[in-house]
This record gives sequence, structure tokens and C-alpha cells, in this order.
Amino acid sequence: MMIRPYTDADEQGWLRCRVLAFLNTAYFDNVLQKKEHYENPSIELVAIENNQIVGLIDIEYEMEPQTICTAHDTVGGMIWHIAVHPDYQHRHIGEELIKAALKQAKALKLTYLEAWTRDNAKIQKWYEKMRFVQTYTYHHLYFDEPALEKYDLSVPAQVRPVTMFAHYTGSDPDVLNRASRRHLCMCYVKRII
Ligand SMILES: CC(C)(COP(=O)(O)OP(=O)(O)OC[C@H]1O[C@@H](n2cnc3c(N)ncnc32)[C@H](O)[C@@H]1OP(=O)(O)O)[C@@H](O)C(=O)NCCC(=O)NCCS
Repeated sequence: MMIRPYTDADEQGWLRCRVLAFLNTAYFDNVLQKKEHYENPSIELVAIENNQIVGLIDIEYEMEPQTICTAHDTVGGMIWHIAVHPDYQHRHIGEELIKAALKQAKALKLTYLEAWTRDNAKIQKWYEKMRFVQTYTYHHLYFDEPALEKYDLSVPAQVRPVTMFAHYTGSDPDVLNRASRRHLCMCYVKRII
């Protein structure tokens, strides 16, 4: 397995690796058809085995504190994507990608990495194993039509909302229980020393 910078020719392999990695996670329906590019500088690495992309990490990093990340008032890097192809998981590829990215982040004088993930005990354990610390949580809620009828949503005439995805920072059980699907979204932070 070799880790190297992402190039434009990697796009299809990157998209396939990512979609397969997320298939059995709480982000199963977060499918991309084009790879994201970033306004700010970034660290974008891929892991290659048998001429195939088997892992990836994308970190967009700050030149000014709190322009991308949220956890500290010093410059950080946001992990927008980290994924290992399911056939290659548990072989330390994710760990090696974090290590390679950390080396670059350190040279860039970034002070921390931030990542957001949804409630998935295995992924949480993995972040904790990589020495990330959970700092903040809030809810991701999906509401379907019957639940939405109970809310006074202000939309133009002839527009009938049939579904809604919402961020919820409260804890009212009445709100939480109306959601047809809900996830706890959590922030993990790793200090770079
Ligand atoms: C999270 C992910 C990137 C980890 O990559 P990986 O290459 O499978 O993990 P590694 O092999 O580097 O794991 C390193 C250590 O964590 C452990 N680990 C890995 N997966 C684990 C799991 N599901 N539960 C518990 N421990 C786990 C490994 O056993 C290893 O520990 P060890 O040194 O004691 O053997 C990968 O599982 C993945 O792509 N998941 C789906 C996408 C995702 O959820 N991304 C992050 C959230 S946005």
C-alpha cells in the first residue's frame, strides 16, 4: 500500500472508494458524483493498492482561526472526508492516512484537526483510538410529511414540503420523537503537538 497526493485522474476511483466505504454507515445516502474542491488550501491524499484507490483523506485548512474549523482559536484543519474501501478496512490504512496527513499538518503549523461524524459506535471507537476527543454534539433530524404538517413552515403558495432535513441543537423529546430518522452528529478534535 502506498500513500500519495490526490491527482485529477483519481476522481472516479476516489468517488467509488468513498461511496463503498460509507455504504454501511449513517452517511449511506451522502453520495457524491463529483469530488469536492476547496476554497482554502488542502491536504488531499489517497492510498493505493493493486493500482486501485483503497483509501482517501481530504483536509481543508485555515489561514485564519475559525474560518473553517470551530473548536479552537488557533489555526486548524477540517477533515471533510476520510474513508477506506470496505474490503481493505482494519488493515491500518485509515491510521496511515491520518499519520501522513498529520505529518503535513504539523509542517504547516496547524494546531489541530477537526472531524464531524454521526452516531456509529465503531467509527467513534476508531476516532478515539486515533486519539481524537469528542467535544460537541447536536442532532441531524429527518421529518416526513405527517410530522411536517404539525409545523408552521412558511413556504410560498403551491409549495408542499414532503420531507425536511434539519440541524437541531436542543433536546426536547417532542421534537426528537417526531423525526422519522435521527442521528447524533459529533465533533472530534485532535491536537497536533
Ligand atoms: C473509519 C475508517 C476510515 C477506519 O479505517 P481502517 O483502515 O479500517 O482503520 P485502521 O485499520 O486504520 O484502524 C486502526 C485501529 O483502529 C481499530 N479499528 C478499526 N476499525 C475498527 C472498528 N470498527 N471498531 C473498533 N476498532 C476498530 C483497528 O483494529 C486498529 O486498531 P489495532 O491497532 O488495535 O489493530 C474506515 O472504517 C471507514 O472508511 N469507515 C467508513 C467511512 C467513515 O465512517 N469515515 C469516518 C467518518 S466521517
